[in-house]
Amino acid sequence: MRRQVVIIGSGPAGLLLGQLLGRAGIDTLILERSTREHVLSRIRAGVLERGTVALLEKAGVAERLHREGLVHSGVELAFDGDRLRLDLAALTGGAGVSVYGQTEVTRDLMEAREAAGRPTVFEAGDVEIRDIETACPSVSFTVHGERRTVACDFVAACDGFHGIGRRSVPEGALRTFERVYPFGWLGLLTDAPPVTDELVYANHPRGFALLSMRSPTRSRYYVQVPLETRAEDWSDERFFDELRLRLPAGMASRLRTTPSIEKSVAPLRSFVAEPMRFGSLFLAGDAAHIVPPTGAKGLNLAAGDVHYLSSGLIEHYREGSDAGLDRYSERALGRVWKAERFSWWMTSMLHRFPGTDAFAERMQRAEFDHVASVRSAAANVAENYVGLPF
Ligand code: APR
Ligand code: PHB
Repeated sequence: MRRQVVIIGSGPAGLLLGQLLGRAGIDTLILERSTREHVLSRIRAGVLERGTVALLEKAGVAERLHREGLVHSGVELAFDGDRLRLDLAALTGGAGVSVYGQTEVTRDLMEAREAAGRPTVFEAGDVEIRDIETACPSVSFTVHGERRTVACDFVAACDGFHGIGRRSVPEGALRTFERVYPFGWLGLLTDAPPVTDELVYANHPRGFALLSMRSPTRSRYYVQVPLETRAEDWSDERFFDELRLRLPAGMASRLRTTPSIEKSVAPLRSFVAEPMRFGSLFLAGDAAHIVPPTGAKGLNLAAGDVHYLSSGLIEHYREGSDAGLDRYSERALGRVWKAERFSWWMTSMLHRFPGTDAFAERMQRAEFDHVASVRSAAANVAENYVGLPF
């Protein structure tokens, strides 16, 4: 069997790449380790930058997003009970973000792929990539107990942080950068109308808290917890009690205790692998970089990578030019590092760091006051939050 591009991973990065390439007449095969049901059951973040929305439109999968997604033109920051609304639209010349779950983005892309008859192999085991230093790479995998090999022109590793794509690059060819934060987020999803119309990111002496949402009837909340926290040790009641303590007064009283649909702990990490290409292998999305969720950049960065990679591949097949592919890593990383900076800044400003000193705490407060009182500082946060252009 032969394909033009083999994509490993059917998360948002792999699916969006497959969709954009498919619409340009390029033949792809997606290999996914998990089942379709498992991929569609993962609860992830839910804030889309305008550039991500535009790319989903280009991919022809934005119809439900426009119908059901919530357009937000503001976001709130809180510090020890003091509140600051960032008017995203006014600060950026009209931009905002769309609240629409990553799970829904994944579902829309998967359905579009299936409707177009483009192949995906789920439960593909022991995926192995070979000959990436040549122009004739191949990918082997096991499905239903049978080993298969597919030859191709290019391999796109969209297989997340724990995937095999990055690990297939020879030792020494990649440089990695990492920061692991000494805390995680405990998230709870529940069917209750959001407490506020917009997202609220709060720094409180007890730790960070976030009020987010998926729809007018579904809320997503988070609290900062120690790394070793287990979700099963937190009853819904304990979660809501803790969340209430960390919210500004008016909001806490409006928080309703409804049963959780899902509860889980996510660690916070910053990670970048450079370069994002080795020979015929391209890394995209979480396979190449991780941001802590505080800036809502994970999915949006994956979309940026896919924008650059799909245009490079389309240029290769249509015009016979490798200029876009040769610049892929440099262009993607330029955007990645800016999002890393913003996510690190949001994380540093809004969390309580164990063992920190009084000076560091005053610095956090000064950052908040600066954004609250200097318009250019607020505009800087807003521009990054709605997303830098591709
Ligand atoms: N073989 C095949 N598939 C694999 C392998 C493997 N060895 N390893 C991982 N996968 C699959 C995973 O099961 C998953 O479905 O690759 C997919 C990777 O998807 P994501 O983790 O969702 O990563 P990505 O598509 O880059 O999405 C970007 O945005 O909000 C953030 O981190 C969040 O996932 C999110 C990301
Ligand atoms: C979410 O809704 O899950 C969410 C929103 C904003 C973030 C992170 C997560 O920054």
